[in-house]
Amino acid sequence: MKTEIIYHPTEADLIRGAALLRDGGLVALPTETVYGLGVNGLSAEATRKVYAAKGRPSDNPLIIHLASAEDAGQYCEVNSAFKKLAERFMPGPITVILPKKSCIPDSVTGGLPTVAVRVPSHPIAHRLIELAGIPIAAPSANLSGKPSTTLVEHVIEDMNGRIDMIIDGGPCTIGLESTIVVPNGETIQLLRPGAVTVEMLKEAGFSVQMDKAVTERLSEGERPLAPGMKYRHYAPNAQVTLLRGSSEQIAAYLRPFWGEKDTALLCCMEDEAANAPNAFLLGSRGDPAGQASRLFDLLRGFDHRPEIRRVFAVMPSADGIGLAMMNRMLKAAGYRVVELEK
Ligand code: TXA
Ligand code: MG
Repeated sequence: MKTEIIYHPTEADLIRGAALLRDGGLVALPTETVYGLGVNGLSAEATRKVYAAKGRPSDNPLIIHLASAEDAGQYCEVNSAFKKLAERFMPGPITVILPKKSCIPDSVTGGLPTVAVRVPSHPIAHRLIELAGIPIAAPSANLSGKPSTTLVEHVIEDMNGRIDMIIDGGPCTIGLESTIVVPNGETIQLLRPGAVTVEMLKEAGFSVQMDKAVTERLSEGERPLAPGMKYRHYAPNAQVTLLRGSSEQIAAYLRPFWGEKDTALLCCMEDEAANAPNAFLLGSRGDPAGQASRLFDLLRGFDHRPEIRRVFAVMPSADGIGLAMMNRMLKAAGYRVVELEK
């Protein structure tokens, strides 16, 4: 398949992209979180193609993307908690799970009675969905098992030749996938942490219950509430190990690996290891949002350096967007953590 790549899209390009989507085509589009691989969310046939393009198991449901939260009632049963979340956080990086209506095909929800709904704030995503006039089902635009794509170059690397069109929108500002929640009255179940943080949900008046899969490896037979959380994800080919301890302990642990060609030290510029020739910098400790926006690009970059066989990374703190970083890094590491603190 020939993939059309559109840099700096014009309105006319978006009109063409929207027509392609309505006709069942596959169009990668930028959002504020990560790039998405969009298809017509009302077409069972189109949504089946998306699983094939990603190499993704079809029991892993898709998020439908809407131009406005007010459209949600056409596709799912909205409740007062959804309205409150929508008012506070939409458009933006949050996905809400609600009971689905029958117009949403089972191929979107992997057979579940619920559907995931999100209203992206990125102007290109917004305009494309508005022009298409249909809900756009979109998983992250990466090959299954690889980190999500946050630059158009990543999308081209994974999807060129597999889909109809790739629309450039520059780097994704957040760089981690949306927060996924299930509203149950005043209680919110957190299935996947993201840029709408636990602190923000609490401030909006909800109590937050975290799914175990956010911070822990599930044992054989245990099922996460978001089916996608069970897959090894976000992982480069190199073996990733997370280090938890004081900055002195981490510095001492990493010193023997300085300059080792097969080892990458993923750290912040304040860490001692940042001075090593094999350091890869996430940014400043004081700028967790900046770190989050660079994580997937750095993880993907390791796959372009086959000499790198292992990566050591410092465990981020669990507050704010740090929880989302921690969740993605734990998965990249297959939950391999060295505890340096006694
Ligand atoms: O930021 C994002 O959410 C990006 C952009 C493109 O919007 N999309 C994204 O989609 O991350 P994807 O398919 O890579 O991840 C969707 C996650 C999966 O873990 C899936 O299992 C979960 O959402 N999910 C979807 N529908 C669900 C449902 N009805 N119940 C529980 N989890 C659901
Ligand atoms: Mg994904």
